[in-house]
Amino acid sequence: MGGPFFCPAIAGNAPATSDPVGPCAIITAMRCVPALSVTLLAAAITPAAVAQETASAAVAQGALVFEYWCAPCHSDGPGMPGTAALEVKYQGSLPAALLERADLTPAVIELFVRNGVSVMPPFRKTEIGDDDLTALASYIVAESND
Ligand code: HEC
Repeated sequence: MGGPFFCPAIAGNAPATSDPVGPCAIITAMRCVPALSVTLLAAAITPAAVAQETASAAVAQGALVFEYWCAPCHSDGPGMPGTAALEVKYQGSLPAALLERADLTPAVIELFVRNGVSVMPPFRKTEIGDDDLTALASYIVAESND
């Protein structure tokens, strides 16, 4: 990550010195390290950074929910009831693997998860709570859009 300061040591442009631990190197380190920590601190406390961290925590949580409840049927590859059924349903016009679908919105995902379809069971709130479902949907959307 780049910061609004120039650090010759980090940029690799430090003037050549015959003594890498001599006064020059120490002064360079002392000037660069505080500037770097102040930048990191400032980045960590902006609302945008907080929102981003919350979002990536939700995506990470959603990945766990998917692995546990959905992957046994919706992983990519043979022998997956969900993937096989969606292959038949869409005949190649959409990817069969759920994580490759760019068209799924959180609302659609939540509808199928709560209601089920064909051999896919509806998932109760005692299995997948509302927060986990939100996290799951954001994970699927994030995965399919990258
Ligand atoms: C027991 C296997 C099974 C499990 C577990 C399962 N599914 Fe499914 N799912 C299916 C099948 C089969 C279909 C396709 C049904 C059909 O033929 O329309 C499907 C369809 C869907 C669809 C609709 C896709 C479309 O375009 O029609 C969504 C979304 C979906 N599943 C999401 C999930 C999520 C998220 C989970 C985990 C919470 C999950 N499924 C768990 C088997 C499963």
